[in-house]
Amino acid sequence: MILLLEYFKYCFKAKGRHGIHSPFVYDFVNKCLTTKMNKKFISSQKKLFKNLKSDKTILNVNDFGAGSKKLNDQRSVSSIFSNSSSKGKYSKLLYTIANYYTPKNILEFGTSLGIGSIHFSAGNKSSNITTIEACENTFLIAQQNFKITNTTNVNSILSTFDDFLENYSEDKFDVIFIDGHHDGIALVDYLERLKPHTHNDSLFILDDIRWSDSMLEAWNSIVNDPYYHVSLDLFRMGIILPRHQQTKEHFTIKI
Ligand SMILES: C[S@@+](CC[C@H](N)C(=O)[O-])C[C@H]1O[C@@H](n2cnc3c(N)ncnc32)[C@H](O)[C@@H]1O
Repeated sequence: MILLLEYFKYCFKAKGRHGIHSPFVYDFVNKCLTTKMNKKFISSQKKLFKNLKSDKTILNVNDFGAGSKKLNDQRSVSSIFSNSSSKGKYSKLLYTIANYYTPKNILEFGTSLGIGSIHFSAGNKSSNITTIEACENTFLIAQQNFKITNTTNVNSILSTFDDFLENYSEDKFDVIFIDGHHDGIALVDYLERLKPHTHNDSLFILDDIRWSDSMLEAWNSIVNDPYYHVSLDLFRMGIILPRHQQTKEHFTIKI
């Protein structure tokens, strides 16, 4: 897969707000995506990002997923931040989804330094956020970041995704962010196993859908899966929802 070519194809297909007839997707583009982040949060986010960028602490990282394209097992916090954390318009997306849809229960697969959870939490202080991370050293840095940012509505679990799925039997999730183990077969398998813990209006955010050929193949198969009636291609991330009340349709959207 040639990423630049993929990007040109994506830009060519991307729709402005006028080409969208689905009320749900129209609202997503015009209301959810245009939500502004709180000024106080922006300033605490800037401070946190500045500290993480310059943090040269070395962690021994245990990678339970598809690994990193650039990093070995000894990684500085700053390199994890540059290579693995949600930033810019994609971290803002997490904030806006939590803020606009006010989900009661959010699940994040892959906590890393905690940036995704911190954005969900800032977007909606009433959401219950569950985040899963298997690497203990990374998990510990996330706990520090939750403290620094006064992020209190996060239930952080040290576990593999597999162990979590085997043992989970509580409330259903309204938003699920899959951001770890970037392998197409694993992604499709996690989605299948998450089904019993979701509902017709659950919104799934899939990160790095163009990370590899296998991820892009999985994304294309998910878009064609009759179970998901809404799919949104945001280039780096993809969003899917069952929403069986809506005719099946795929959208390419610029964020
Ligand atoms: C890309 S990072 C997550 C970034 C984070 N969601 C954010 O928004 O900043 C992926 C994380 O998933 C963790 N991970 C990968 N595969 C895993 C698995 N099978 N079980 C648990 N954690 C896993 C990795 O250790 C890594 O910290």
